[in-house]
Amino acid sequence: MRTQVGIIGAGPAGLMLAQLLHREGIESVVLEARDREYVQQRVRAGVLEQNTVDLLRAAGVSERLDREGIVHHGIELRFDGAGHRIAMSDLTGGRAIWIYGQQEVVKDLIAAREAAGAPLRFEVSGVDVHDVDGERPRITYTDGGAARELECDVIAGCDGFHGICRPAMGEERLRIAEREYPFGWLGILADVAPSTDELIYAYHERGFAMHSLRSPTLSRLYLQVDPDESIDAWPDDRIWEELHRRLAADGWSLREGPIVEKAITPMRSFVAAPMRRGRLFLAGDAAHIVPPTGAKGLNLAINDVRVLAEALTAWYADGSTTGLDAYSDTCLQRVWRVQDFSTFMTTLLHRGSGDAFDDGLQRARLRYVTSSEPAARSLAENYVGLPTA
Ligand code: APR
Ligand code: PHB
Repeated sequence: MRTQVGIIGAGPAGLMLAQLLHREGIESVVLEARDREYVQQRVRAGVLEQNTVDLLRAAGVSERLDREGIVHHGIELRFDGAGHRIAMSDLTGGRAIWIYGQQEVVKDLIAAREAAGAPLRFEVSGVDVHDVDGERPRITYTDGGAARELECDVIAGCDGFHGICRPAMGEERLRIAEREYPFGWLGILADVAPSTDELIYAYHERGFAMHSLRSPTLSRLYLQVDPDESIDAWPDDRIWEELHRRLAADGWSLREGPIVEKAITPMRSFVAAPMRRGRLFLAGDAAHIVPPTGAKGLNLAINDVRVLAEALTAWYADGSTTGLDAYSDTCLQRVWRVQDFSTFMTTLLHRGSGDAFDDGLQRARLRYVTSSEPAARSLAENYVGLPTA
């Protein structure tokens, strides 16, 4: 079998790349290890920045997003029992964010792929890449019990943090930069109308808490916990009690409802560079991870494939390699801007050492970003996403 672009992984990065290439008349095959149900149900991020929404619209996959997505023009930072609004849209010339689950984006992209009759294979196993330094890279895998080989012009490694494409770059070629945090996030989905219109990020001496949402009837909430904490230590009553405490504010109350999903995820920052080896290009979580406090993981993945699709389109049109040669540097510039913002949000809002000096600094920063317009504008322009070039 032959294709132009072999895409490994059907997360947001792989599926969006396939869609962007399809719109340009470039063929691809998407290979996914999991089954369709799994990728469509997996609860992940839920905030789309302005650039991501613009691109989903341009790619013709925003019909349901435009109907069901909830646009937000501000966020709230809460500390010392009081809320402070960051008026994101007013501070950024009208840019905004949309609340729309990552798995909804994935469902829409799979539907578009199938409507186009383009190849997307679930439950493939033993995926491996070969000859990425030559002009005829290949992917070998097993599909429905049969061994397959796919010859490609280029391979896109969109297989997430635990995939096989980053190791295939060759350990000695990669420069890894990373940070582990001494805490994780316990996230719940609750079947109850959100107690807030806008997202609330709360700093509290007991730890960070946040109130997000997925729909007018579904709330998403998070608590900072120890990274190696077991979910068994967190029965529903304990989760609600802790959320009430950390989110408490005068004249506000939190509505409880049945918890329909709960999990603890560790937090890390990670960057692998370069993002290209020969004819193999990494995109999304395969190359970088950000802590969730800035709500940027999905948006960075979408930005990578925007840059890659543009570069491949130019290459197929007239043989120009300028975009492909710049791919890694172009993506990494944004990756590092977002790493800085995500680190800023994480250290601003989490309880670290508990040390009096750290606590003093955090409160000073919180007061500053909620009282100085230039400081608030800086937070806002990063949160809605800096414009793409
Ligand atoms: N072969 C085929 N598919 C694979 C393999 C493999 N060897 N290894 C992993 N995969 C698949 C995974 O099952 C997953 O569906 O690759 C996909 C990678 O998708 P994501 O992990 O969602 O990564 P990405 O598309 O880069 O999206 C980044 O995900 O983690 C969140 O916050 C992050 O929102 C961001 C987004
Ligand atoms: C979410 O709704 O899942 C969410 C929102 C904002 C974040 C992180 C996660 O910063």
